[in-house]
Amino acid sequence: MRVLFYNHTGQVSGAEYLLLMILARLDRARFQPVVLCPEQGPLQQRLKELDLPVVTVAGLDARFTFRGDQLFRYLKSFVHVVRDVRRKVIEANPDLIHANSIRAGLVATAATFNLKTRVVWHLHDLLPRHPLSTLIRAYAFLSSRARMIAVSRAVADNFCGSFSVLQSRVKVILNAIELDRFQPDAAAGKKTRDQLHLGAGDLLIGIVGQLTPRKGQLELVRAFARVVTDMPNAILLIVGAPLFNRDQKYAELIQTAIKELGVEATVRLTGARSDIPAVMQALDLLVVNSTVEPFGLVALEAMACNTPVIAALSGGIPEIIEHNWTGWLIPPGDEAALADAILYLGRRPEVRCKLTVQGQNHVASYFAADRYLADLEAFYGSICDQRAIAGENSALGQTEAARFA
Ligand code: GLC
Repeated sequence: MRVLFYNHTGQVSGAEYLLLMILARLDRARFQPVVLCPEQGPLQQRLKELDLPVVTVAGLDARFTFRGDQLFRYLKSFVHVVRDVRRKVIEANPDLIHANSIRAGLVATAATFNLKTRVVWHLHDLLPRHPLSTLIRAYAFLSSRARMIAVSRAVADNFCGSFSVLQSRVKVILNAIELDRFQPDAAAGKKTRDQLHLGAGDLLIGIVGQLTPRKGQLELVRAFARVVTDMPNAILLIVGAPLFNRDQKYAELIQTAIKELGVEATVRLTGARSDIPAVMQALDLLVVNSTVEPFGLVALEAMACNTPVIAALSGGIPEIIEHNWTGWLIPPGDEAALADAILYLGRRPEVRCKLTVQGQNHVASYFAADRYLADLEAFYGSICDQRAIAGENSALGQTEAARFA
């Protein structure tokens, strides 16, 4: 079965990490992958390292905005990319397109108009409150060829919104990680700590991910300024770089806050790093401080490395972490609660230890790449199996079976 993977950007962030995991492990005897993505950014290089056929496509410039002039520009970009994708889909003639974001799903579905190609939209994002979100839901609803994979139940519910009939086309496949890359390794952790010139008595707190407002790095810096007054051995490591939009400005805001709060000596901005397992192994605590988090791969990565996680309760986080068992949950956007949680866990190694034992166990049991690939391959199989579709008990399923036939 030929599967064409389409990624609308050439940058690598969470959705692309998951894509790379899928592509590295997909059973190539059953599925022949081709990847379509823009040239700009590191993704193509990473794909070539996996020895995969890669086809370049125009990059998509489109995001949510209320500004009419920008919307018009985005619409032009959308139409241009749809045409380019259509040409390339016709050449590749796939049995199935796996579109790795909502935007990619929209493009791929429009690009295959009257081609009958099945399109899987991989939903990694939460739709914001915006009139366009309703249009996207309506479009998905009307495109009976489209099926969706949601990275969490929260994402599935958000995507369907009031179109509850869409639920029958959405399958939740919780994300997973490579457990052989992310595993406890005290020696590797010590090495990273030595490189950072940290002593055994220092409490290393980290946040890992692109620098962008929804990840809440700025609020963490502010909470951390409260922490260090009570806990002078605490160090904050901010790992990541701005990737998209105007996030460079956000990175500057973080730097200014660090200076203004007088925490230059205890907060370190490392920029992007490629040795994330070694970072996770070095941390005493990982903070996930997002106000919007569709899933939160970094939480899994830390837990797999025996690092306890404090996470703001939003999006897919509660599907990964149970409070005071596999991790520690706090209300989102509450700096005081975050500072208190860091102080509480920072002073209690025995609670941290309990969380790491349960957390590691939980990730190993439910979030391994093998489980993921088995679910995904079964899903591909099910949507290409006419009888499976006809068997869907909704009226919608029947109509679709007729169209697929
Ligand atoms: C996106 C989401 C993130 C998720 C990742 C992988 O980057 O923002 O929450 O972990 O995709 O699905």
